[in-house]
Amino acid sequence: MKKANILVVDDEESIRFVLNTILSNEGYSVRTSQNLVKAREMISESEFDIAIVDRILRDGEDGIDLLAELQTVQPFCQAIMISAYPSYESAVRAMNYNAATYLTKPLEKDIILETVQRTSARARMVRQQLIQKNRMETVAALTSGMVHDFGNILQIIMTNLELFLSDKHLPAFNTDKLNRAFDAALRGEAMIRRNLGIGRCKEQENDKKTTVNVNHEIGRLEPILRDILTPKDIQLKISLTHGVKPVAMDLGHLEQILLNLCINARDAISGEKNRYVTGSDLKTKRKLIKIETTSLQADELCRDYPKFNPVSTDYVRIQVSDTGCGIPRDIQPRVFEPFFTTKGKKNGSGMGLFMTQTLIKRYEGDIFISSGEQGSGTTFTILLPEWKEKQIQFTDKLYSE
Ligand SMILES: Nc1ncnc2c1ncn2[C@@H]1O[C@H](COP(=O)(O)OP(=O)(O)OP(=O)(O)O)[C@@H](O)[C@H]1O
Ligand SMILES: [Mg+2]
Repeated sequence: MKKANILVVDDEESIRFVLNTILSNEGYSVRTSQNLVKAREMISESEFDIAIVDRILRDGEDGIDLLAELQTVQPFCQAIMISAYPSYESAVRAMNYNAATYLTKPLEKDIILETVQRTSARARMVRQQLIQKNRMETVAALTSGMVHDFGNILQIIMTNLELFLSDKHLPAFNTDKLNRAFDAALRGEAMIRRNLGIGRCKEQENDKKTTVNVNHEIGRLEPILRDILTPKDIQLKISLTHGVKPVAMDLGHLEQILLNLCINARDAISGEKNRYVTGSDLKTKRKLIKIETTSLQADELCRDYPKFNPVSTDYVRIQVSDTGCGIPRDIQPRVFEPFFTTKGKKNGSGMGLFMTQTLIKRYEGDIFISSGEQGSGTTFTILLPEWKEKQIQFTDKLYSE
């Protein structure tokens, strides 16, 4: 990993020399300046991850002024303020200008290195958060633009379906199919409206949070899933543990999450990549998607999913597994990024898993991938906190307002 770029601003030559030597020896790339004029030039020319700035410089210059400028010019950059005249007031001012740390002179080598290492990790995190925020804003702009046009297309579909359905001579078999298509178009309309909410970051206002019996909803969704999978000759196995506790969420979101995962699973089984992986075995290889549910306690889940950070003691686990092409390890961390797709622009927008993860996190849940070698299939595990009575009282109040 590339080491941080560091700017050192201090009027004492010995301090500049010592900091430059210690940090360069550790592989950091360091530039130094004895005053703010030169420092300003440097920040207008190059990007820095960390700025180590003296509080009081010669000719009445105040290092805080540089911190204020850094906030607008280089928002990723983390500042460490150093001072030979420490005071509580000075430290608070530095923090108000977003200084990550305040150190007093004389400086000690170990403390400098430890502080720079910690600040460097913080700089990386802030950079990632800002990039993610920018992405969210792009998604928001795109979603808002798409909603209107897509809503119009759905209207055309629904109007034509209604015309078909009004034909009294339509055989019952076709009526069922058309009704399902009409329901799906209606749900699609509701879905894009909800997604617009995500873009505007006012999602909670639009959610209709209720207690949801996950098993019951999966049962309700089953015919729709079979409609999607049967044409591709894929079997669906649903294995629900009796007595799974309810969760509190918008019903439409659970449906959106499951559809996203099952459509991805279908594509992974029937797509080109799987054909390549399985070769002539494709016909004999089992084409199967499995949906399983169970209730588990947080400590059991922490053992199985080390990155899981529980907010509750009890969880509902939903797993969607497939016998498809699998997800190579190097791309697993990328699949939740907005616009990441391996299906080509015509077949995928790369928004499915991004939306899925965003929705799950909104309910303080999490999602994990488990996928081994190529062709060994994939399991997506969703963890959602069980509904507790207190929680629903709060949300009931929220939504009645
Ligand atoms: N079950 C799966 N098996 C293999 N790869 C998968 C699976 N689910 C997702 N992926 C990979 O993750 C990528 C991102 O998935 P995501 O659902 O976000 O977008 P997409 O399916 O490509 O497009 P769309 O926006 O239409 O859903 C996919 O392009 C695919 O490479
Ligand atoms: Mg998808």
